[in-house]
Order: sequence, then C-alpha cells, then structure tokens
Amino acid sequence: MKDAETYSAPMARAFMALLVAATMLSASFGASFSAGFDGLSRASEPPHDPPHDPPRELPGLHNVVPYTGSGSEAFYSGSAPEGDAGFDALVKLGIKTVISVDGATPDLARAKARGLRIVHLPIGYDGFDDARKAELVRAVRDLPKPIYLHCHHGKHRSASAAGAVAVSLRWMTNEAAAARMKVSGTGVGYRGLWSCVAKASPMDAATIDAARGDFPEQTKPESLVASMVAIDEALDNIQFAVAATDAAKRGASAADAAEIADLLRILEKDEGVERMAKSVDFRALLRASSTQAGALEKLLGEGSSAGVPEAVGRLRESCKDCHVKHRD
Ligand code: HEC
Repeated sequence: MKDAETYSAPMARAFMALLVAATMLSASFGASFSAGFDGLSRASEPPHDPPHDPPRELPGLHNVVPYTGSGSEAFYSGSAPEGDAGFDALVKLGIKTVISVDGATPDLARAKARGLRIVHLPIGYDGFDDARKAELVRAVRDLPKPIYLHCHHGKHRSASAAGAVAVSLRWMTNEAAAARMKVSGTGVGYRGLWSCVAKASPMDAATIDAARGDFPEQTKPESLVASMVAIDEALDNIQFAVAATDAAKRGASAADAAEIADLLRILEKDEGVERMAKSVDFRALLRASSTQAGALEKLLGEGSSAGVPEAVGRLRESCKDCHVKHRD
C-alpha cells in the first residue's frame, strides 16, 4: 500500500478498515446476486432471467426491478427519479439511458447534468400499440446500456413496457415477463397492460429496424381539452363498472382512475396550461382532483365496494370545483 504512506497512521488504519468493510460488503452483495442469476440462467431458457428479488428502494427511486441480466446489460423498470437524489441513484446504478413511458415531461436538466441519455415515449394505462412497442424495443436494443425504464410509480406501465420489450428481444418468455410484472406489483385490474405482455412475441431485426429511431427526449403533453375528454371517458367507464357491482369490473376500472390521476398530474406540471388558466389556484385545483382520483384508484385496485360511490362523488365534486371557476 504505497499510497497509504501519505496518510497519517490512524487515518491509514481507518481507511484500511473502511476498504475491508467495503470489499466484504460488495463481495457478499455481488455473490448473492450473481449466484441467483447464474443459477437461473443455467436452469432455464432464455438465459437472461434475473433473480426474483423483491423490488429495491433507493434514494429517490422506488420499485426498482431488473427485467434482464446484470452489469452492463442490465435493464430495469422503476419509478420516476425524484430530484437530485433520484438521478444520483441512477448514476450509482451505472445507468446510461433513461426511457420514460410516463406522460410527464422528463427532467432533462438533471439528466443532462449527469450525462444521461433521455428518451420519452409515453404509454397509457390501457396499454400501447405495436408502433409504440417497436419504438421501445428499438430504443432498448440500440441505446447505451444499462437502461432504466420508468413511469410514475414504476408498478404498472413501466413493468408492462419492460416485459413486452424483454419478450420482443428474446430476453424473456411471456410467462417470465408476467411473473416479473407481479414482482413490480402490477395491479390485476390493468388488463390492457397485462395483455400487451401476453401478446408480445420475439421481433425480427427488420421489424425493429423499421420502427421510428429518432428517440425523442420529450413528447409534448396532450392539450387541456384532449386531456379533459380522456378524463371524462375514463370517469364514464368507472361509473359503468361501479353500477355493475361486479368485483372484477371494479378492479379493471382502477386503470381508468389511474389514468385520470395521471392526466391531472401532468396538466399540473404543464406550464402552457398554467399560463392559459392565468390563475394561481388552477394548479391547486388540479392537484386536489388528482388526489381524489388517486384515492379512488386505490379503492378500486383493492377490489372493495365499500366507499367507492362516495369516492366517485368526491372526484366529481373536484371536477366541478374547477369548472365553476375556470370553465363555465
Ligand atoms: C383545475 C381545473 C379542472 C379540473 C380539476 C377538471 N377540469 Fe375539466 N375542464 C377544465 C377547463 C378549463 C376546461 C375547458 C377547456 C377548454 O375548453 O379550453 C375543461 C373542460 C372539460 C370538458 C369539456 C371538454 C371539451 O370537449 O371541450 C370535460 C368533459 C371535462 N372538463 C371533464 C372533467 C372531469 C370529468 C374532471 C374531473 C375528473 C375535470 N374535468 C377536472 C378544467 C378542469
């Protein structure tokens, strides 16, 4: 240890102790991870199935679940990175490319400050079409790895997109991808997202090459009116499901409530919308309505009937609160 000579003796001892501790930690970590991975890859085809560890919670990153391999080939699903902590955690994970399937505009400033490549290809809670799937597959195939794919919570949309991509690239079977979505915590009611993974199949290189390859780092949010129309449709779906008093249908409409919460949350962050409203309380009203939609999503996702009509009523009230002030 030639370098240690430049330190004072107590400092060198402290440094060595730290070094030993760090080495032991990383060795045990690495061993358990690669043991699980190697074990699986030897036992089953295809070889990329990572171990079924529970989702990881990191500073500013939630629900981090690998959808293939480790090291430089790793491909994760998770939540949107929160603030500096979230982006620093991505850097620590070694991530080179961040793909957002969330509707919200990505935090480009924080990403660029850390040299991260950003791609923004939003999908809905009801799933995605073949064109969007092919774009996602192409981005994951062609861009620098490791790759982190996220939505907002990292449970439903990112899990489905990651699963469909992994199947398309022959990294996972449909069954393994569905098992992985369960690890991410995808709700049973999100039928469109499950069916996108069930329907996915290996894609040939020519089909992937034909997909859009400009990998936009920002996709413009829907206009206020388009969002409102989508919100209204989703609320109608919920109303029908609740009237049907069918537990499975109620569960399925959790996806509709999630969509409402998400669209309102995105509008809240959309600067163009705020300017248009010319009002400081517009954002607060959006947030209040989004919160009601989130509460309804939770109830519906739990499959309970208790309190659902009341929660729908509170959501409708929150729409009205804004409409009387800013629309009617
Ligand atoms: C924070 C304010 C706000 C909230 C919350 C809000 N809206 Fe709206 N909504 C508006 C505004 C403003 C318009 C008018 C947009 C325009 O015409 O440019 C509108 C328009 C609409 C329209 C008419 C769209 C069209 O075709 O022109 C519908 C339907 C609608 N909202 C449904 C809803 C529902 C359902 C909710 C609650 C789940 C909701 N809104 C929550 C502000 C809001």
